[in-house]
Amino acid sequence: MNGRGNIAVGAKPKVFLTGATGFIGGRLLRILNQEGLPTRCIARSLDRFPRELAGSCEVEVVQGDLLNREGLDRAMEGMEVAYYLVHSMGGRSIFHYKTYIGRDLQAAENFVRAADAAGLERIIYLGGLGEMADNLSAHLVSRQRVGQILQSGRVKTTVLRAANIIGAGGAPFEMLRHLAERLPVMICPRWIDTRCQPIAVENVIEYLIGCVSQPATAGLTLDIGGTDIITYRELMEIYAQMRGLRRMVIAVPFLSPVLSSYWISLVTPVPAGIVMPLVEGLKNEVICKDNRILELVPIRLLSMKEAICNALAELEQRAGKPISRQACFLS
Ligand SMILES: NC(=O)c1ccc[n+]([C@@H]2O[C@H](COP(=O)([O-])OP(=O)(O)OC[C@H]3O[C@@H](n4cnc5c(N)ncnc54)[C@H](OP(=O)(O)O)[C@@H]3O)[C@@H](O)[C@H]2O)c1
Repeated sequence: MNGRGNIAVGAKPKVFLTGATGFIGGRLLRILNQEGLPTRCIARSLDRFPRELAGSCEVEVVQGDLLNREGLDRAMEGMEVAYYLVHSMGGRSIFHYKTYIGRDLQAAENFVRAADAAGLERIIYLGGLGEMADNLSAHLVSRQRVGQILQSGRVKTTVLRAANIIGAGGAPFEMLRHLAERLPVMICPRWIDTRCQPIAVENVIEYLIGCVSQPATAGLTLDIGGTDIITYRELMEIYAQMRGLRRMVIAVPFLSPVLSSYWISLVTPVPAGIVMPLVEGLKNEVICKDNRILELVPIRLLSMKEAICNALAELEQRAGKPISRQACFLS
């Protein structure tokens, strides 16, 4: 799978892409480029922009910041479809990590005003699963509120809601991989037995592209998930099984999400400013409730074994050396 699936974009709208230096946006940009869609990106730092695409005739990069309305207005001029693939979590501080919430909302407010002014036809936003009534974590609330802000404008906005996205380089997979690789015995809080419905990054890209080809998705909020509804413990076990690792996961009642975030940010390369909000959200079940996407954008969904297999294959390719696996998972 390369994320293209069978979804072809017929008409070629002018695409405005945010988050092109990130995990999802970077992959989407490559596919948009392969599909020949003219794409203008906004990036805070041109140094982080994928070099091989910066010179492509279909790709334009504008330096700017969603927190700065002026750059955004200029960057959106003449565009038709916009992808909103931005969040404001990050940084290494374990004390000030919650400041992302105000930035998330401000960036979305700026974006929706600029989109209205530019007269865009559609916005497609990738947010998070979870129900507001379920005492959602601050990060998951922020994802929902960003969706509401974007949908409050005049431009028809599709909100795709996903749980963890599994792919090489993404925060959830890198947390899972480093924990499973490094810790033979893991002491975890109760969240390890929360259920989730993760999705392969290849499928997410297919849905993002598919929404452009399927006008019936305009203005809708749609849940997207993979084939497995599993606990985080089971996800960890699948990874360990595929790599042939013997791992023991013990759930204890006294370990708080804050404490577990501390050690996860020590054991994995994912910055504390991302680990903390994500770990806080592990208490919330994130499972698709609205499955209309299955009919609107029919694609072959990958299992978690396939998703992890693809991620390991990608890491192998990047490193130029094999990663050992159980024989049954080699293909
Ligand atoms: N990864 C997952 O498992 C997952 C799951 C569910 C939903 N999502 C959603 O998918 C979207 C993309 O996530 P991701 O995993 O690709 O995140 P990511 O890899 O951390 O990328 C975030 C992107 O946002 C950009 N950005 C942040 N603040 C910005 C600002 N003020 N102005 C302009 N650009 C800004 C970053 O640019 P810089 O390079 O300048 O920092 C980066 O390109 C988010 O909406 C997220 O909620 C992700």
